Amino acid sequence: MKIMIIQGPNLNMLGVRDPRIYGPVKLETIHENIQTQAQQMGVEVSFFQSNFEGEIVDKIQECFGQFDGIIINPAAYSHTSIAIRDAIAAVNIPAIEVHISNIHAREKFRQESLTAAVCSGVIAGFGPLGYHLALNGLIQILSELNAVRNARKQAAQEQMQTEAKLEQPQE
Ligand code: DQA
Repeated sequence: MKIMIIQGPNLNMLGVRDPRIYGPVKLETIHENIQTQAQQMGVEVSFFQSNFEGEIVDKIQECFGQFDGIIINPAAYSHTSIAIRDAIAAVNIPAIEVHISNIHAREKFRQESLTAAVCSGVIAGFGPLGYHLALNGLIQILSELNAVRNARKQAAQEQMQTEAKLEQPQE
């Protein structure tokens, strides 16, 4: 199982930026901790951070056919970017949106996320723990999707075998 973690603008400043809102932990440390959890859970994770909307769109598109799931904190672009929303919808890969702070308890302009509606779920206000909750949830979602796909495949195979038997000349 391969999961891409995408971090939006200014998240490279974590640890320095508004520590009362975002806490003291650096992005590098958050990623190290996610990597540890991923190893324990037997999944592969990759990390990407950008301050540029188009680069984030490109990265989401690159995930198509390459990654099973996406965890994304679009940061300020959550509130403005139709392009990122469209990219998430276009690749049709299960995605979880994470916000370190509780955006619903902040300024009005942060309370709406344009990108959230195309994600399977949203986690906000748990600090860096949110990424770990997202990884847990995403693995659960992907496992369930796999189970459904496998069951469908098996049912289709059984159907084909039954049809093949029926087509055989009866003695
Ligand atoms: C954020 C919340 C956004 O409103 C803000 O622009 C960010 C970080 C969060 O993780 O809490 O940059 O996405």
